[in-house]
Amino acid sequence: MTETDQSRSPRGPLGRVAVIIPTYNERENLESIAARVRSAVPEADVLVVDDNSPDGTGELADKLAAGDQHIHVLHRPGKAGLGAAYIAGFGWALGEGYSAMVEMDADGSHQPEDLPRLLRALEGADAVIGSRWVRGGTVRNWPKSREILSRGANTYARLMLRVPVHDATAGFRAYRAETLRAIGLDTVVSQGYCFQIDLTLRAVDAGLTVTEVPITFIDRTRGASKMSRAIVVEAFVRVTEWGIAGWFRPRRPAR
Ligand code: GDD
Ligand code: MN
Repeated sequence: MTETDQSRSPRGPLGRVAVIIPTYNERENLESIAARVRSAVPEADVLVVDDNSPDGTGELADKLAAGDQHIHVLHRPGKAGLGAAYIAGFGWALGEGYSAMVEMDADGSHQPEDLPRLLRALEGADAVIGSRWVRGGTVRNWPKSREILSRGANTYARLMLRVPVHDATAGFRAYRAETLRAIGLDTVVSQGYCFQIDLTLRAVDAGLTVTEVPITFIDRTRGASKMSRAIVVEAFVRVTEWGIAGWFRPRRPAR
């Protein structure tokens, strides 16, 4: 879908925004990303969801939170995947009464300076995806292998799931609280990055408006990606299952 969808379905102003940043061994990245978020959207709060990173990211997050009322930390006992971290973060933010939730990586791949544009788009949508694979979107510094993986995963997801989204695996997003309530977070079992596809599919299946805005994704310069073979396999298996299940299940028309 395009940004023109906003005119068709106005949703109005947002209220309190929580920017949720999952971390696993992001000690070298967290401080600068948190500072950039705070200056790009000063009225928003930051929630770091750390899976007990061995490198001390959790302690650093506590230190940042102690010096800034707008920064919060959720400590989890161990590495349980991106999906589980976001489910916990969304649950916290819903419980605290936030009305919009942002997903953002800690490693600098997503530019906090794009947040005002994402949030503006959310005023006219139920969910917004910061998209690499629409006109105006792009990726910098990614190895060719990773670009092929992302494009391939998106093509497969589009074919299997018939979602009208070009970057269903994107990790830079904004949701309205009502959207998260509507898509049933308690039944999400995706652990890895297929969590992103899962939520995209749930939103589309619920007839919600998902808008893509172009972003520039810049690969990290510090620390290591947590992408693994297991994450790719989980995504492939689940997309295949969802695709087959979808052949027998009608979809609600878009609102
Ligand atoms: N708490 C927690 N637990 N955080 C995690 C975990 C986990 O098990 N795994 C990854 N993260 C955090 C990282 O610390 C980082 O902040 C963010 O999630 C993204 O992880 P990366 O490892 O940097 O992801 P990537 O650059 O390979 O992948 C990007 O592209 C994917 C596919 O397009 C991300 O934007 C993904 O969200 C996206 O799905
Ligand atoms: Mn990354």
